[in-house]
Amino acid sequence: MNEQDVREREEQLSYLERCRTLFAQLYEETPQTACVVTFGCQMNARDSEKLIGVLRTVGYTITESEDADFVLYNTCSVRDNANQRLYGRLGTCGGYRKNRPGMRIGLCGCMAQEEVVRKKLGESYPFVTLLFGTHNLYKFPEYLYRLLSGEKRVEEIWNDTPNIVEGLPTERKYRFKSGVNIMFGCNNFCTYCIVPYVRGREKSREAADILEEIRALAADGVTEVMLLGQNVNSYGLGLEGAPSFAQLLEQVSEVEGIRRIRFMTSHPKDLSEDLIRVLRDNEKVCKHLHLPLQSGSSHILKAMNRRYSKEKYLELALHIREEIPDLAMTTDIMVGFPGETAADVDDTLEVIRKVEFDNAFTFIYSKRPGTPASCFPNQPDEAYVKEQFARVLDLVQETSKKRAALLEGQVAEALVEEVNPSDASLVTGRLSNNMIVHFPGEASLVGSYQTVTLKKCKGFYYLGERHA
Ligand code: SAH
Ligand code: SF4
Ligand code: F3S
Repeated sequence: MNEQDVREREEQLSYLERCRTLFAQLYEETPQTACVVTFGCQMNARDSEKLIGVLRTVGYTITESEDADFVLYNTCSVRDNANQRLYGRLGTCGGYRKNRPGMRIGLCGCMAQEEVVRKKLGESYPFVTLLFGTHNLYKFPEYLYRLLSGEKRVEEIWNDTPNIVEGLPTERKYRFKSGVNIMFGCNNFCTYCIVPYVRGREKSREAADILEEIRALAADGVTEVMLLGQNVNSYGLGLEGAPSFAQLLEQVSEVEGIRRIRFMTSHPKDLSEDLIRVLRDNEKVCKHLHLPLQSGSSHILKAMNRRYSKEKYLELALHIREEIPDLAMTTDIMVGFPGETAADVDDTLEVIRKVEFDNAFTFIYSKRPGTPASCFPNQPDEAYVKEQFARVLDLVQETSKKRAALLEGQVAEALVEEVNPSDASLVTGRLSNNMIVHFPGEASLVGSYQTVTLKKCKGFYYLGERHA
């Protein structure tokens, strides 16, 4: 962090202290609950850990229920259904207010950056009295202080910021694993995507700051980290003397106590040979690569501004498969981009068949206001999309089942994440390749690494048995 970032952090830490004092005075007799509802990607999940860290420090009791004294929605706007879902939730939450005088409802995250959303909130959901965006999330203590001191409504949205302010309290969902932001924003401007507009320009954190955070996490019991960025392969852009992403992975792997390293997301256009080498040779780097394809049709990829062709993607993916046969490769695929035809989807199916993804997230293209593709001609019709989506989904399921079956009977190491929520005699573990295994075990195993035989493949997960 530069000097200004440090000053900003100090200022927010001082607001946090003032919040604590004020909160204690106001609510000495009436304990207060707070709930943070998270939508969207890993970045938002990590941001919510920061929001919860602040709320807990101030004195709130954290709950999962939105029937609480303070509810904060950390939102996603990547597809329209994410926005619509949020409005539904806000409606329900508005209902709780009737029985809760003094209840506060706030909204932050990617939707808050959209002007159309802010307008709609003002018109239809006036009970949302705290609104801040993605660039000024670190100012949450200050905004909370203003609310607690009696301000009726706090709204502050920035369009961008050069600052990277970290180091406020966070509360991790898992004590043994954590996301770590290595960069923010995105410069790629894929024509369908709203992320560059709501998250701003790409900014990388200093490697020293990242490593310091990871050392602190390790000292606090974390053994698995996931390095987060919209396009981790371009890590370091604009930072003088920064390591490449592959070098950063090597440096992280040297942190004592860290046993597993994951990362999200890799853009195919920037994936280096060095990264493939580190994925192959570094034992701590998990054998999983999420490599979003979006479409297998070169002309659709061009219209999407993805900056690779079908052939380039195939060449890269098959090269990685050859170098690292035990790596799981997953992807994102979109159906129904403007101008797409069944012949384009044939190309997508061909790529799926050749690469045999271990898993794929399939999405229906959603028109996002302000993105170039929202003005493209030939927006898809519903019947076409339904039919093509089913074709993609069927094949994706078939190939991922086939890949998963390959590991049946093998022995692997699993990090135990939780007691199985639907069967308390089982625990759920995650393998290096990101697959899930359920096996008999008890709560004391959570956070530990266990050697497990993958006895039965159930499609997307395994049933296993732990070695004593
Ligand atoms: N930075 C990542 C993607 C982040 S968004 C990358 O480049 O791969 C996660 C996924 O949401 C994308 O991979 C894409 O498949 C999907 N997505 C993004 N915008 C979308 C839209 N307008 N409609 C449907 N899916 C979309
Ligand atoms: Fe969106 Fe493309 Fe950036 Fe990913 S790389 S966040 S899809 S603009
Ligand atoms: Fe959604 Fe924002 Fe992430 S739009 S996918 S929460 S960056």
